[in-house]
Amino acid sequence: MTAKTTLGIFGLGTVGTGVVTLLGDNPQFEIRAIAVRDRAKPRDIDLSSFEVTGDPFKLADDPKIEILVEVAGGVDPAYQVIKRAITNGKHIVTANKELIAKHGPELFDLANRHNVTIFFEAAVGGGIPLISTLHRGLQANRISRVAGIVNGTTNYILTKMEREQKSFAEALGEAQAAGYAEADPTDDVEGRDVAYKIAILSSLAFQAPIEVEKVYRQGITAISDLDIKLAAEFGYRIKMIGLAQPGVGDSGVSLDVRVHPMLVPRHHPLAGIEGVNNAIFIKGSAVGEIMLYGPGAGRFPTASAVVGDIINLASAIKLPDFARYFQLPISSQVSDIFPIGETTNAYYIRLDTEDSPGVIGNLGHAFGEHGVSLHSVLQKHVADDAATIVLLTHQVKEKQAQAALAEISAQPTTRQIGVVLRVLS
Ligand code: NAP
Ligand code: HSE
Repeated sequence: MTAKTTLGIFGLGTVGTGVVTLLGDNPQFEIRAIAVRDRAKPRDIDLSSFEVTGDPFKLADDPKIEILVEVAGGVDPAYQVIKRAITNGKHIVTANKELIAKHGPELFDLANRHNVTIFFEAAVGGGIPLISTLHRGLQANRISRVAGIVNGTTNYILTKMEREQKSFAEALGEAQAAGYAEADPTDDVEGRDVAYKIAILSSLAFQAPIEVEKVYRQGITAISDLDIKLAAEFGYRIKMIGLAQPGVGDSGVSLDVRVHPMLVPRHHPLAGIEGVNNAIFIKGSAVGEIMLYGPGAGRFPTASAVVGDIINLASAIKLPDFARYFQLPISSQVSDIFPIGETTNAYYIRLDTEDSPGVIGNLGHAFGEHGVSLHSVLQKHVADDAATIVLLTHQVKEKQAQAALAEISAQPTTRQIGVVLRVLS
């Protein structure tokens, strides 16, 4: 009988519980210890046959553990625990996008030096085999775009607001109860989670790391049910999008990476992605355009990706010098990214104004002055002396649109600029 592969599981929340359940009594593996924060907490699974510790460093130091599975989340203490485990010669499986986005290059380098490997399939796209597709399946391609819905929580919220007229808070509460949201759900709704994920995808697609703090982010908290309805009237659905593509900005920088909600044309495949599902478009020089689709969060979809990594690693560690095969082709040179002002987009703009003669003329004048061409204008919900005006523009450089909006904001007839969203072309 071949020896069992020994595991230490750091974290037993939504994902960790799924991982331990899926591993079940699989004779290939032995879970030597599980680390949690609160050992007294009631659990969904029987832990009587496991050693449970409150100290994750014990897993990193246990000479009998071959693979450390980190499903705790956050940077502290995961970063230090993983570094210690790598230094002690352990392989890593992690679902932690924040850690990989912020410290991936350093950790990969450390792993290479210790001849171990880091698998992180669950970090992006939940159960969708996305990392392995980019890393291995698409090696023959030059990638020219990675774009899509990579946060289950925000897609769930937007779907519930649109389909069931739920409030933002109610839909977020449901996503949290289902285990989709991050420990701090502002990471989901303010776009940080998507920024981590698109930074990881960008580094794999374009083979150079980026600084995640430089990724432009706009969350979904300002989107109201009115925007969802108005977007539908124009033939669009609103989706939270992560986007990474090469290009040439005014400053000569060659990468455009950003995170923001977008109006997606109703006929576009991304418009049909509902609930907790994710979908990612990848455009490659040989394959053309592919879309990967599936559940982006949740206990078992995510555990599927984590356990898939564990099984792959367990087979690989039996081979001599295998770690080199899994090394990522990512350079040590950080790629810079465009400022958002240098991107080109069409815009949806909702603003509140006085309902008085000349308002539309003032708006048209400000947009015209800055070279912004209008596609459609709609005046809605006129109450007393107030109007809500919604505009769709043609494609224009963001800094021109922002200059026009700054001028409009200062016009005495403008009450407030409600929301500005980009439109997916
Ligand atoms: P979670 O439900 O909050 O679980 C976190 C677990 O880690 C808990 O068991 C917690 O212990 C333990 N933990 C946290 N800090 C610890 C510490 N200092 N020492 C010991 N144990 C500690 O989180 P989750 O939703 O499973 O997510 C885990 C990771 O997977 C995160 O990186 C997340 O981004 C990623 N991920 C999640 C999903 C999803 O659908 N949830 C999908 C893809 C990726 P206690 O139980 O005692 O509090
Ligand atoms: N909070 C994340 C989401 C979990 O909703 O997509 C999966 O990474």
